[in-house]
Amino acid sequence: MDRKEFLSSLGFSAASLMMASCLGSCQKSSTNAPTVDFTIDISQSPYDVLAIAGNAVSKDGVIIAKTLAGDIIAVAQACTHEGINVTFQANSNRFYCSGHGATFSTTGAVTNGPASSPLKQYTVTVNGNLIRING
Ligand code: FES
Repeated sequence: MDRKEFLSSLGFSAASLMMASCLGSCQKSSTNAPTVDFTIDISQSPYDVLAIAGNAVSKDGVIIAKTLAGDIIAVAQACTHEGINVTFQANSNRFYCSGHGATFSTTGAVTNGPASSPLKQYTVTVNGNLIRING
């Protein structure tokens, strides 16, 4: 292998590595969030935790939370940065990712990076103890 061939192979390798790195972290977005349509019964475990404001539960890639104000909200649980599951922080009224510290509003909007895409927000319909989550 002469010098030109060697440098050429290095350039190809660097480009390949950059592409592989980007595929691992750049493709996460709210478009990867699941499409769901399910109903939970908050009189039954494990969803009965939602009877108490500030609690959250997850199902099928969706985190469902009850804010301290009493609203039921639902967003995709996988962080749009690198896919780590977010948690609900009731006292801050936000979703938090322990991976790299991203935060999201109750509607899923990014409030602090490194995530740059919002969490998918789902439609929540409350009918007594039954809560439909879809979107
Ligand atoms: S995976 Fe959530 S901030 Fe990086």
